[in-house]
Amino acid sequence: MDGTDAVVLRTRDGVDELIVNGVFAMDSTQVSSELALADAALPAARVLVGGLGLGYTAARLLAAGVEQVRVVELSSTLVAAARAGATEQLGRVAADPRVDLVTGDIADHVHGAWDAILLDVDNGPTFLIHDHNARLYREQFLAHCLRALVPGGRLVVWCEQASPDLADALAAAGARVEAIVVPVTRGERSFEYVLYRAYGSAIPT
Ligand SMILES: C[S@@+](CC[C@H](N)C(=O)[O-])C[C@H]1O[C@@H](n2cnc3c(N)ncnc32)[C@H](O)[C@@H]1O
Repeated sequence: MDGTDAVVLRTRDGVDELIVNGVFAMDSTQVSSELALADAALPAARVLVGGLGLGYTAARLLAAGVEQVRVVELSSTLVAAARAGATEQLGRVAADPRVDLVTGDIADHVHGAWDAILLDVDNGPTFLIHDHNARLYREQFLAHCLRALVPGGRLVVWCEQASPDLADALAAAGARVEAIVVPVTRGERSFEYVLYRAYGSAIPT
C-alpha cells in the first residue's frame, strides 16, 4: 500500500468509518450532505463521480434511476473492498450493472459528455486529504470538467465550509455558480457544509 492508497475502512458499534491518508474522511452516522450531493446532480442519466467513499452518493444516484454512474476512486484497496462487499452498500454499488467502478485519480478520468460531474474527494478545498488534489479546485481543471458536460450539465463540488476561492475559480472558468448550504449536526456540533453547483456555457432557464 503506497501513500495514495492509505485507506482504512472499519466498522465500530455498527458505524462504518473511512480514514483516508490518516485523515477522518467520513462515517455512516450523518450522510445528508453526501445524499444532497447526488440530489444536486438530478435530473441526470449519466453521472461521473470523483470519490467512492462509503458509496452513499453513488447509491443515491442509483436509487434515483440514473442510468450510468462512473465512479473514479483513487484507492485500489477501497475498490477491492467494495467489490468484496466490505459493507452491504459498497457491495451493492459495486455490483450494480449501471456502475462502472474505476481505480484512478479523477484528475485523469474526466472525458466524454456527462449530465453531471460530482467531486467529493477531500474534506473540501480548504481541508485536503491529499495535497495533490489541490489542482482539482483550480480554474484549469474546473474548466476541463465544464467542457466535459452536456449543455445544461452540472459540476458539483462538496466542501466542508464556504470557499470563496473555489466560487471565484468556477466563475473564472466560465460557470454560473450557486452555493447550496447543507446544515448538519454531528453530536453536539453543527456545521454548514456547502455544495458548489456550476453550470457551463449552456445555462438552463
Ligand atoms: C469523502 S469520501 C467520498 C464520500 C462519498 N461521496 C460517499 O457518499 O460515501 C472521499 C473519497 O475520495 C477518494 N479520493 C481522494 N482523492 C481522490 C482522487 N484524486 N481521485 C479519486 N478519488 C479520490 C478517497 O479515497 C475517498 O474514498
